[in-house]
Amino acid sequence: MEKIASLAKRRGFIYPSSEIYGGIGGFWDYGPLGIELKNNIKKEWWKRMVYQREDVVGIDAAIIMNPKVWESSGHVAAFSDPLFECKSCHKRFRADKIEGNSCPNCFAKDNFTEPKKFNLLTEVFLGVTEPKQKAYLRGEITQGVFVNFKNIVNSARVKIPFGIAQIGKAFRNEITPGNFTYRSCEFEQMELEFFIKPNEKEANKWLQYWLNERMNWYLSLGIKKENLRVREHEKDERAHYAKAAFDIEYYAPFGWSEFEGIHHRGSWDLSRHKLTYKDQQINEEYTPWVIETSGGVDRALLFFLIDAYCEEKERVILKLNPSLAPIKIAVFPLLANKEKLVSKAKKIYHDLKAADFVCFWDDRGNIGKRYYFQDEIGTPFCVTIDFKTLEDDTVTVRYRDTAEQVRVSVSKLKNFFKEKLL
Ligand code: GAP
Repeated sequence: MEKIASLAKRRGFIYPSSEIYGGIGGFWDYGPLGIELKNNIKKEWWKRMVYQREDVVGIDAAIIMNPKVWESSGHVAAFSDPLFECKSCHKRFRADKIEGNSCPNCFAKDNFTEPKKFNLLTEVFLGVTEPKQKAYLRGEITQGVFVNFKNIVNSARVKIPFGIAQIGKAFRNEITPGNFTYRSCEFEQMELEFFIKPNEKEANKWLQYWLNERMNWYLSLGIKKENLRVREHEKDERAHYAKAAFDIEYYAPFGWSEFEGIHHRGSWDLSRHKLTYKDQQINEEYTPWVIETSGGVDRALLFFLIDAYCEEKERVILKLNPSLAPIKIAVFPLLANKEKLVSKAKKIYHDLKAADFVCFWDDRGNIGKRYYFQDEIGTPFCVTIDFKTLEDDTVTVRYRDTAEQVRVSVSKLKNFFKEKLL
């Protein structure tokens, strides 16, 4: 973890928030490469969950909602019990769940926080005159979907089964934020609420479907199979809204950890908001059930970094899937003081940028150091313009993972990268 945190800071992926004032626990800023990686993760998610499907539409709801939403959803009540949190595994337990001072989850002894009457929701106060109105920063992005259920049914020509996708910030008063960005107080979620007919057979079918679909998404983006597993929640572990729950877990340096939750929320939310659905096909009104996939963008970013990190002799390589890599192509003139090389390289660099490839220009230091820098930030390809380029209009293309080098004609360069990257 130290190596990942150090690389993240050194190369501009993640910085502690407001660091020049000593930082603030549980909050993080994303640097120039971090924001690219984050955007790429969200882009891939949206592509798979919305654009490539026929049964999912998107939404972007407000972060602050009428506080009655959180009373109805059960979040205000569900998190008001005094809880002990295990400082080792960060699971929380009511006092009656702890036997003999050891953690029921990781068995660490005498390592609990003081009991706290714990409310996960972050309060905010609105208005310019006293008394101000108390509201909450959303504790899950989910409720913005449910309260818009009727709006979407009435405006988007959807019919059950269908889903509503959303990506956005959520906020939680975590007692013990930690493990770098893994448990933060401000984080981003990417969620699908999938509405189905209210029966167990449908629910089991779609639970299994979404579990497979989400596992396959992580695998398709390069997460190693041996580092992923599915774990079903025990009954007393489930959130207040869940009839059944599964975690997709990642084998992090701090142990198996939740990556994404797949939840059978039943009719909990829609019935709490008193919302129903008129099924025109069978001419019946009912409260749909919901199968939810809820992943964290920050957690995905952290686990993609960890999974991609490798050391080969003196090289540190981030073997990120090319679609996630913050920079796709780095372009170098072999020597910075040879005008002909620099102007040819600049032209190639601008042409590739104009063709929508995210490119990086570097003419500092020796070529070996430039390659190593790009390996460390996960750039899949480097292009070097050398003296042979001036003779035959070909360049050297170097592959990140193998360090293999091939000559490619400048006239074919865009197509070469289109095939490999788009
Ligand atoms: N809508 C359901 C829901 O919010 P959750 O299991 O509490 O379910 C879903 O959260 C996902 O959000 C988690 O699997 C994780 O990826 C991310 N997440 C939750 N709390 C987080 C935190 N404190 N810091 C970073 N990510 C978090």
